[in-house]
Amino acid sequence: MAAANKVRVGVLGAGAWARHAHLPGCQRDARCEVVAIADPQLDLARDAARAFDIPAVTADARDLFGRDDIDAIDVCTPSATHFE
Ligand SMILES: NC(=O)c1ccc[n+]([C@@H]2O[C@H](COP(=O)([O-])OP(=O)(O)OC[C@H]3O[C@@H](n4cnc5c(N)ncnc54)[C@H](O)[C@@H]3O)[C@@H](O)[C@H]2O)c1
Repeated sequence: MAAANKVRVGVLGAGAWARHAHLPGCQRDARCEVVAIADPQLDLARDAARAFDIPAVTADARDLFGRDDIDAIDVCTPSATHFE
């Protein structure tokens, strides 16, 4: 599928659910492209980026919000942080 037709996703959190469920799901779906991942535990974010070929990594979720190349945010952080 051409890149222009894909939903470009930014992922918040590189913990268990991101790595074992959401990122593999995105990888399987040709309509989806993960373009960035954020986690304050930067090593976890870097590991996930390497494993899932994600080009951008940051420790600060707010870095993703201003980007115009992200169509959807996938929240994989602890439940207590979801509202914020
Ligand atoms: N979809 C499902 O079926 C399902 C099932 C269980 C849990 N969950 C959800 O997944 C959440 C995460 O669970 P987990 O087991 O992956 O937890 P986890 O602790 O393994 O991972 C959470 C990650 O989020 C990061 N994080 C915390 N605050 C952040 C922020 N502001 N921005 C970016 N990253 C941040 C943490 O550093 C951590 O690496 C749960 O709290 C729950 O909401 C979903």
